[in-house]
Amino acid sequence: MAETTQQTQNNGKFYPPHAKPLKGTESFAYATWRFMRNPIEGFGPLTYSQPIASVKSLGVRMHVISDPAGMAEVLTQHEPAFKKSPLDQRIMGSATREGLLSVHDEQWKRQRRAVAPMFKHRHMADLAPDVNAVITAFSRKLGGGGEVELSAAMADVTFDVLAKALLGDPQGLNRETLRMATRRVVTAAGTLRPDDLIPWTGYVPRPVGPRGMMAIKRLRTAADDLLDERSQDNGGDDLVALLVGAKDPKTGEALSRREQRDNLIGFFIAGHETTALTLTWAFYLIGMDKAVQRRLRDEAAAIIGTRAVEYDDLVKLTFTRAVIDETMRLFPPAPVLARQCRKAVTICGREIEPGDIMILANYVMHRTERLWDDPLAFDPDRFIRQPELRKKGAPFMPFGGGPRICVGAAFAVMEAVMVLISLVRDYKIKVAPDCYPRPKMTVTLRPEGGIKARFEKL
Ligand code: HEM
Repeated sequence: MAETTQQTQNNGKFYPPHAKPLKGTESFAYATWRFMRNPIEGFGPLTYSQPIASVKSLGVRMHVISDPAGMAEVLTQHEPAFKKSPLDQRIMGSATREGLLSVHDEQWKRQRRAVAPMFKHRHMADLAPDVNAVITAFSRKLGGGGEVELSAAMADVTFDVLAKALLGDPQGLNRETLRMATRRVVTAAGTLRPDDLIPWTGYVPRPVGPRGMMAIKRLRTAADDLLDERSQDNGGDDLVALLVGAKDPKTGEALSRREQRDNLIGFFIAGHETTALTLTWAFYLIGMDKAVQRRLRDEAAAIIGTRAVEYDDLVKLTFTRAVIDETMRLFPPAPVLARQCRKAVTICGREIEPGDIMILANYVMHRTERLWDDPLAFDPDRFIRQPELRKKGAPFMPFGGGPRICVGAAFAVMEAVMVLISLVRDYKIKVAPDCYPRPKMTVTLRPEGGIKARFEKL
């Protein structure tokens, strides 16, 4: 695979595959083809070496930002000057048109104020036992340990967590149908097509084909059924109940029924695949780096022993958290965010005009020599040596930034840490010897062809 580096071990460190930057001498047609096939393989050398790199394509100016100050200018300081990019709107808008992921301005502010309290720490603590119940059932299913494909296995766990902890384990929920529909929407929407590069198509709904339409219909029916059920029983403290009762604390206004439905669909889409991929890449990395895997097991023995992991353990599991953060640095589940300028501003010293597209390239920023020491190495200790990497202004932004930062981040981190430490405590993880996962972006960053691994009972 000429576009991706080989995975290697060097001086006791593991270097996973990395999308090589373009050389900058390729033809426009070749560069476009590479970008279409896998956007992270379509970035040029300037995107890695300077904070902002601009290009004009089909009459539209695009600026790739790979710098924490530039990202903060777009996402925080000048946030009102930008909206989600037309492509984002086309891709996600078909499924979540009236939900937090897609709306703007007053409608977004009102929804964010109503939804944010649902993800506060006190709710996280209440949800931890449900997350544990799912992990225990999953671990039992793994049994003596055969070979699994990591991304499918982790999608199973995180979907079950979503269903139990966030949706309250509803009786009538057909998990398989809902899971397949979510995957189909993400795949149909997330694969770039030639018409996506034509500027005006951003304003036209994107056809997702009959199977995509059917998947969206299934998601809507499932969300409506969940909301109907909960409006009638008026109880529970899961996410659906909280969504039904959510009110803007400023105005007292509840979300409309359409907003509730589109937010629930947004949670299906944003809430399980991202965490599943974090865990997929984490198990791959520790399968390749035995020393890190051993240290995780030592931490499990020291902090949780043989009992289930509890919410209060999370702050003590510092190495496990470092492994999750280092995984999201190397393989950010959302590798690129995009915005469109709607009011002239200056970003990284460059004049940005209405209509310009900003590509906020987390994948590039997380791997650039300018900002990181030995950026391509898997080195969880960097987050222990430099805890400030998790603070504002650092070049580490897997959950985005500014007012639209991921609303589910605390839940995602809790879940990822709990799954990783629980399974490492009970199993030795071995990645299949012939496995060579190429990171491929289809909205999220997936290992192309999957990753086979064995979980051997300890
Ligand atoms: C490792 C897991 C996750 C990652 C890496 C992730 C990443 C992100 C990123 C980068 C954004 C910002 C998008 C932008 O600014 O364009 C975002 C927004 C969002 N995420 Fe997550 N996410 C994760 C888990 C979750 C979970 C578990 C939920 C809910 C159950 C969730 C719900 C949302 C929602 C609703 C938004 C939109 C927020 C807004 O615009 O106000 N995410 N996520």
